[in-house]
Amino acid sequence: MKVNFTETVLRDANQSLIATRMPFSDFKPVLEKLDKAGYYSLECWGGATFDSCLRYLNEDPWERLRNIRKACPNTKLQMLLRGQNLLGYKHYPDDVVRAFIRKSVENGIDIIRIFDALNDVRNIEVAVDETLKCGAHASGTICYTISPIHNLESYVKLAKEIEALGVQSICIKDMAGIMSPKEGYDLAKALKANVKVPIVVHTHSTTGLGFMTLLKCVEAGADVIDSAISCFSGGTSQPATETLVYTLKQYGYDVDVDENVCKEINDFFKPIRAKALESGLLNPVVMGTQTDALIYQIPGGMLSNLVAQLTAQNKLDKLDEVLLETPRVREDLGYPPLVTPMSQMVGVQATANVLAGERYKNISKEVKSYIKGEYGKAPGKVSEELQKLVLGDEKPFTGRFADTLEPGMEEAKAYLGDKATSEEDVLSYIAFPTQAEAFFEKREADKKNTFTYTITRID
Ligand code: CO
Repeated sequence: MKVNFTETVLRDANQSLIATRMPFSDFKPVLEKLDKAGYYSLECWGGATFDSCLRYLNEDPWERLRNIRKACPNTKLQMLLRGQNLLGYKHYPDDVVRAFIRKSVENGIDIIRIFDALNDVRNIEVAVDETLKCGAHASGTICYTISPIHNLESYVKLAKEIEALGVQSICIKDMAGIMSPKEGYDLAKALKANVKVPIVVHTHSTTGLGFMTLLKCVEAGADVIDSAISCFSGGTSQPATETLVYTLKQYGYDVDVDENVCKEINDFFKPIRAKALESGLLNPVVMGTQTDALIYQIPGGMLSNLVAQLTAQNKLDKLDEVLLETPRVREDLGYPPLVTPMSQMVGVQATANVLAGERYKNISKEVKSYIKGEYGKAPGKVSEELQKLVLGDEKPFTGRFADTLEPGMEEAKAYLGDKATSEEDVLSYIAFPTQAEAFFEKREADKKNTFTYTITRID
């Protein structure tokens, strides 16, 4: 049995441990080795990399991708894409989604992992369609969550709907690291029995379940697993590549990853990790095991957000109440998976309900637009009471939200004029307007050997 590896050090490990702050120049020298390690794919783009390049690293994300492509001609390059939301949280019109995917593939992407926070298939279908049209590999994704309405049957049904879009693989995305070995085994087994395409498993080590879950998923027939080179593994990142390679080879699985090359890659990243620890960019706490998520069934990141929110308002004594209110709000919203932006939406609303001393006295703008149907279809039934409170006698929107949007490419092109030097620039602007414009300005100034500065008002 063959098991393939996706290395996440350039994207998810980088994002989960050091907020995607690794500049291209730091990892450029190791790309040749990453290309020789025998990985099935290198996850290197999408997610927060794009935003971070523009906002913090003064890098053109497209150029980063082209440079990785040049240095890694033999390994498939992979990105993470939030369906109709691309790399952000709002819905984009179809022409933008199609152009973004076309350019991603043109600049070097081979595999696009496409997901929707609500598992609403209508929010991934255009992205999948365009990926296939561009000749790339579309990996349809299931956001894994635990709730009374999510079970093997519902996941198999979802997987079949995703497979019907024509995807070449299906990924189980356990963004919170709460999928147990048993749940992973049962789910991978059920998917293998019901869909024909390969199954990919993505998890995080946050709660400590990761290694066990991946091993059981492989036993159940999973074809590809995500892992991170050891010195950027563990905690909120993925389980370690070398450890999994060692274990799976011992069990007789056919694994292409070369442990000697892994050693060289890991040795390369050690000083980068040391530097991040020293500067405080990497907090040792996130590398440890945090099991609270198993008790509350909410992602670790969400728990720390709740604590931070309450601390800021000097109301940490209300934490237990908020933790009781959180699952009730989630139930009222029809059990959305607790992934961004739903995790924040549920957490903030639960906090507001507790602090106001009255449920839904104040309702956030986001919850209102969710109830209106602007994010997509809720997985379960939304509370009628809450619906009535937000909509009155109006009916929620049940269509595909992107159908209500006007095309966006031409307008952005016209607005940017000369500032944009390529279609890639236009897409950077659409995805992150403020950051992209600041980046273009700086790029222009660099060309002319002048410099810009920000005015701090003193008045
Ligand atoms: Co992840």
